[in-house]
Amino acid sequence: MHRVLVCPPRYFGVEYVINPWMTEHVGTGSAVVAQRQWDALIAILAERCDVSAIEPAPGLPDMCFTANGGLACGGAFVPPTFRCSERAPEAARYRAWAAAAGFDVVELGSGAPFEGEGDALWWPRRGGSPLLCAGYGPRTALAAHRALAGRLGARVVSLGLIDARFYHLDTCFAPLPAGRVVWYPPAFDARSRRLVAALAPAGRRIEVDDADALGFACNAVRVGRTLIAPRASDDLRRRLAEWEYDVVTTPLSEFIKAGGAAKCLTLTLDPGTMKK
Ligand code: ARG
Repeated sequence: MHRVLVCPPRYFGVEYVINPWMTEHVGTGSAVVAQRQWDALIAILAERCDVSAIEPAPGLPDMCFTANGGLACGGAFVPPTFRCSERAPEAARYRAWAAAAGFDVVELGSGAPFEGEGDALWWPRRGGSPLLCAGYGPRTALAAHRALAGRLGARVVSLGLIDARFYHLDTCFAPLPAGRVVWYPPAFDARSRRLVAALAPAGRRIEVDDADALGFACNAVRVGRTLIAPRASDDLRRRLAEWEYDVVTTPLSEFIKAGGAAKCLTLTLDPGTMKK
């Protein structure tokens, strides 16, 4: 069964600004609504996968975004190096969690910012080992990609992010098995757009429109043929249905105020077993 890590939003709130979504929302959130939205997401996940939780900590309001807590690769776990000092203390907590959970903790050691699965998504390919799609620019640095490739022995595809609203790769790119992808091209530089188009030829890519992108439709958790996301337009649902995927939507507006949604709130613990 697919395994994910989550973190209860007990201390969640928009308390500082480290991405454009947070600018208008400092101190405006409702802890009660956030908890309710998170509980609903967890209920959807728990029906479909094995959900583990890490303890939240006071003073770390973004810790519920576990996607930034590291990157799992088989039995290995790479802890993050946060670019922003506000989130830096989370790294030690995720490192300790992974060690206690039996992962082999692999340090990147490059010192370069690396914000975990939020910027590093496994892309299962037809007849080949998965590619590690890694974002760089706003948060993760390109230098971290080289370290990742070396440490994990993975083929890394570096994708440049150019729109501050889509500051993590998982906000604008949802790789699916068989080389398919749901993505928002304007978030990428021209070289990266060409690269994605070469890796996923027409018919294997779904370009989302502005409304879906800004509604965090790409920030989807995949379990089997189901995508869990805060939004999907009828058109997006129809196109995904042609690929035999269904979408379960659940409101995550409180978390979008902080710049995150369904995918950001989960960390995949068994990416190697996710080919189907
Ligand atoms: N406020 C958090 C930050 O800016 C949100 C993180 C969202 N996570 C993600 N994987 N996109 O770091």
